[in-house]
Amino acid sequence: MKSQDIRKAYLQFFESKGHLIVPSAPIVLKDDPTLMFNNSGMAQFKEYFLGNATPKSPRITDTQKCLRVSGKHNDLEDVGFDTYHHTMFEMLGNWSFGDYFKKEALPWAWEFLTEVLKLDKDRLYVSVFEGNEAENVPFDQEAFDIWKQFVSEDRIILGNKKDNFWEMGDQGPCGPCSEIHIDLRTDEERAAVSGRSLVNADHPQVVEIWNNVFMEFNRKADGSLEKLPAQHVDTGMGFERLCMAMQGVTSNYDTDVFTPLIQKVEQITGLKYTSNEVKNISEEQNKTNIAIRVIVDHVRAVAFAIADGQLPSNTGAGYVIRRILRRAIRYGFTFLNTKEAFIYELVAVLANQMGEFFPEIKKQQTLVTNVIREEEASFLRTLDQGLVLLKDLMLAHTGQISKEKLEIGGDYIFKLYDTFGFPEDLTALILKENGFTYDKNGFNEELQKQKSRSRAASEVSTDDWKILVEGNTESFVGYDQVENEVKITRIRKVDSKKDGVLYQIVLDATPFYPEGGGQVGDKGTLVSANETIEIIDTKKENNLILHFAKKLPENVNASFIAKVNTDLRADSSKNHSATHLMHQALRSVLGTHVEQKGSLVNPNNLRFDFSHFSKVTDEELQQVEAFVNARIQEQLPLIERRSIPIKQALDEGAMALFGEKYGDNVRAIKFGESMELCGGIHVNNTADIWYFKIVSEGAVAAGIRRIEAITGDAVKAFFASQENTLNEVKIALKNPQDVLKATLSLQDENTKLKKQLEVLLKEKAKNMKAELAKELQEVNGIQFLAKQVDLNPEGAKDLAYELGNLGQNLFLVLATAEEGKPMLTCYISKELVADKNLNAGQVVRDLGKFIQGGGGGQPFFATAGGKNAAGIPEALAKAIDFVK
Ligand code: SER
Repeated sequence: MKSQDIRKAYLQFFESKGHLIVPSAPIVLKDDPTLMFNNSGMAQFKEYFLGNATPKSPRITDTQKCLRVSGKHNDLEDVGFDTYHHTMFEMLGNWSFGDYFKKEALPWAWEFLTEVLKLDKDRLYVSVFEGNEAENVPFDQEAFDIWKQFVSEDRIILGNKKDNFWEMGDQGPCGPCSEIHIDLRTDEERAAVSGRSLVNADHPQVVEIWNNVFMEFNRKADGSLEKLPAQHVDTGMGFERLCMAMQGVTSNYDTDVFTPLIQKVEQITGLKYTSNEVKNISEEQNKTNIAIRVIVDHVRAVAFAIADGQLPSNTGAGYVIRRILRRAIRYGFTFLNTKEAFIYELVAVLANQMGEFFPEIKKQQTLVTNVIREEEASFLRTLDQGLVLLKDLMLAHTGQISKEKLEIGGDYIFKLYDTFGFPEDLTALILKENGFTYDKNGFNEELQKQKSRSRAASEVSTDDWKILVEGNTESFVGYDQVENEVKITRIRKVDSKKDGVLYQIVLDATPFYPEGGGQVGDKGTLVSANETIEIIDTKKENNLILHFAKKLPENVNASFIAKVNTDLRADSSKNHSATHLMHQALRSVLGTHVEQKGSLVNPNNLRFDFSHFSKVTDEELQQVEAFVNARIQEQLPLIERRSIPIKQALDEGAMALFGEKYGDNVRAIKFGESMELCGGIHVNNTADIWYFKIVSEGAVAAGIRRIEAITGDAVKAFFASQENTLNEVKIALKNPQDVLKATLSLQDENTKLKKQLEVLLKEKAKNMKAELAKELQEVNGIQFLAKQVDLNPEGAKDLAYELGNLGQNLFLVLATAEEGKPMLTCYISKELVADKNLNAGQVVRDLGKFIQGGGGGQPFFATAGGKNAAGIPEALAKAIDFVK
């Protein structure tokens, strides 16, 4: 069976058992601070397990794009080295939300595997939770008894808490699980060693394919378990492993999920991948295979993350994606000898293969390709720079001390890694090739220090919810009201390094808008008869609206008036509505390839990222501004459709975004011809925006531009400040009639003067040359001079070269302090570099310490800038040590 058909068979099977098929959620999670990415099928349904929302069907099935590259479930470093772990994989799942339980779930799993897919029963093993006294959870007798109807007892394995009790994180819903494992070894191997003994033993051909979790507990902050109000089923089957079992191969990478990608890599690199059936391969071939697996695995994770709106970046989830891609690039660079971008070429293959089921990858193929190509090119440049730095480093070391001492400090290697993203293993390889070693312990120490710094910075402890009003599901009334009488239904304390102690408050019916759709959360107050509590932010988490406060009211049971800060909200809504109009304007001016890729709407300004392949010209920006301002002048009223079927909204031309999860019914916001699916807060009429002004345009990534703009009062302030500046310029120019003309003529004059000055300085250096030549001192046969000169650094350089032309064996250190900025320039005649092992780079690095600075250059000429001009005399005094 082809992988496409296996996926379909699974979904159809569970549909026939009364399940509703839903699409995969985007790979990047929103509204859940405990997870960056979807790491299992159940993540998108957490709100149902927690009882914060009701699912549209108690039985759901899907295939979910998952990423296990951070947090509790992280497989990244294993990927490539084995044949069955991945960064991105699909998890087939079926769910019961308080509906069926073990006696349906397990027989269905068995039926699907053995009757629909007709997998060999003799190859299957199952596991059951053995129980745990400390947790007070008994042996799962029920699952055991169910399995006994299908398999002999010797195929049922009892597993401990690690293997058979599933938890998605440190807190939250969890429960015992029952796994199904498959033994794909040959008959001879199976006869020799029992499959049972290899279950959960990291054998590549005896692997878990399906996990059936029976959610009945909630793990609390103190580590204890409490019963959930209802019992749920959460199952997850590894799609790629199932394909391996069904396609008669022994590696996920030999299934049709990966073979087309592998063939493309072979075609690009001219290298061959050997399937898992080929045994006794050379060390070289093994390395090639690992690198190819890394690349074809990682490109999937990166491409789908980008398609779901997560661009590679330097922080958070974006940084994780960047690191995955860089891991792929350096495996190619080191083991496949790819020195130019090539991974982007795999996107077309991927889109072709997966695009039918996951249209987001097909529709955004060009964007994904461009982003990956640019990331590759830029990291390859970094690798090149790193190579130059490494060469310098090695040169400095050989030039400086005795040739035996070839170990390089761990802190240098760490700096290369940390600042330039230069991977340690690659550095190690290059150093080794050149006869160097480095202090690995020193490197690890630095790495540990950095890790504990960032761990400390992100430490958060979250208490359990304190429920004040049972069973209340909260509602949002903020589209119609900015004030409401409310009760607090639950509270929780969160203590983090970043924000200190904060309280999260949930209300029964809140007017506060929670951060979402780019718009920041409302601020405001909770006011009771006796006190006022400031709400500093509002966010959504697993379908709860959390109000953040620095302190709790004395009486949490009192009635409160929840009051939104309407000034801030009004400013945000102007920016939000302007964002919609600008989106429409960009599509009209630049073309319909423009799609929103990120948005931030706050009271001060708006920021909008969108797909577009080149710089937006000044003229185009003016057109966009004019387009939006025309819509403002037309005074278009807000048309809000609070809840319409998504299909109807899309048919009417509403814009939907990739990477967003939409329900069956959606809210649509219309101003004239602009129509978007949106949950945000908007102005009642475009006239309220007053005026729209773009303040910047730039690149965020390949093919992604960013515009920042302002509206309303911010524009008034902007114009006022522009006018002010102009007035100040006029005064500074002594009130000329024509400011522009006066400025241009000033510039002209300045250029002329600069030229004259250059000539004068050159002459001065020449005069100095004659004087300084007299001051040269002979030390150990070397013509030595260390002196501060009254020149700029350029002049010092000219002077050094001029003196260099005078004769041989010259060692020169010149110091300058133009505008108080100290600078050392060292010149050493070529023959001294060669014969006496002197190195100007090393000289300026050593002497640079006295002026609190550093620098480098070549062995015969180098410069160092610093911060402390008072150190010049000492630096000059020490220079003689080098020639002595
Ligand atoms: N949550 C379980 C897992 O991820 C089953 O879906 O393994």
